[in-house]
Amino acid sequence: MEPALLAMQDIEVAFSVGKKDYPALQGISFEVREKEVLGIVGESGCGKSLTSLSVMGLLPGAAKISKGKIVLGDSDVTNLTAEAWCKIRGKQISMIFQDPMTALNPLVPIGRQIEETVLIHSAISKKEAKQRALEMMTKVGLSRVEQLYHEYPHQLSGGMRQRVMIAMALICEPQLLIADEPTTALDVTIQAQILDLLRQMNQETGTAIIFISHDLGVIREVCDRVIVMYAGYIVEDAPVAELLEAPKHPYTLGLLQSIPDIEKRGQPLYTISGRVPAITERSTGCPFVGRCSSASPTCERSVPDLAPVSDTHRVRCHLYSEVGEVI
Ligand SMILES: Nc1ncnc2c1ncn2[C@@H]1O[C@H](COP(=O)(O)OP(=O)(O)OP(=O)(O)O)[C@@H](O)[C@H]1O
Ligand SMILES: [Mg+2]
Repeated sequence: MEPALLAMQDIEVAFSVGKKDYPALQGISFEVREKEVLGIVGESGCGKSLTSLSVMGLLPGAAKISKGKIVLGDSDVTNLTAEAWCKIRGKQISMIFQDPMTALNPLVPIGRQIEETVLIHSAISKKEAKQRALEMMTKVGLSRVEQLYHEYPHQLSGGMRQRVMIAMALICEPQLLIADEPTTALDVTIQAQILDLLRQMNQETGTAIIFISHDLGVIREVCDRVIVMYAGYIVEDAPVAELLEAPKHPYTLGLLQSIPDIEKRGQPLYTISGRVPAITERSTGCPFVGRCSSASPTCERSVPDLAPVSDTHRVRCHLYSEVGEVI
């Protein structure tokens, strides 16, 4: 097995609202190994972005890591200073966001924005940095790069802007790339091209990827392993094939049934009734209890552990006893 690049160890993130602290992430434990593509899936508000922001040292001011440890390579990065983070971000680990328009500077030509990352992290001349930027732009499938180098973000299409973001994120050859819903704002054809590009980059350079999406259909196209999140918890974690063939958690089953299927054309799409509870509404029981058709009184009382059902598969559900059998 490849060594772990990132280890999240029992992470809890809480928001201060008024005088109270509300946990938004709880018991988040997982590892990302070299070259791996790990998917994180869950509905809006489940904590996918907070998980990635805590890995990047970019949590919003009102949020804090109240428990646990984040280990990147050999270093504990849980309480790093802003200055120390600047040395890591871009070089060891980088991120692409859902909406490139808010992540790109509208006033700076895109070529300059791409080469800036290299100039910060390596001692090379401006001329060499420009060369690297142009090469990277070509690599991510942009054409007429010499001209594009001088253009501004608003002159590009959504798909081209996302390619620019990928070039910026990968130019320093980070070991780990976090892609937070990178294709949600794009139409399906462009979405497929961007997914192919990320997969290709992963295979060529060995960059590990955390790929975040609310769409299990997209996750199954690109990921090796999947983490399913619900209301701030990891509820299931398995290799993608295992999760699709033998899903355990009732929430995962619901997500799988919600994937549009050409064979069911004309039938109404399955939806999981109810919604993700807000961080102020979370109770002491299983986070999914309010929406689960298999819930029992035990589920109201306590949060299940994230327990192994095989060497590679974990699930947080009272339906599965310690021996991994359905009760
Ligand atoms: N600045 C904030 N203040 C208070 N609560 C917040 C803040 N940011 C996020 N939250 C809460 O934390 C929870 C997790 O949010 P997060 O953005 O990680 O969800 P997500 O899974 O990325 O959702 P989406 O799919 O919509 O991007 C949500 O319940 C959200 O309301
Ligand atoms: Mg998000």
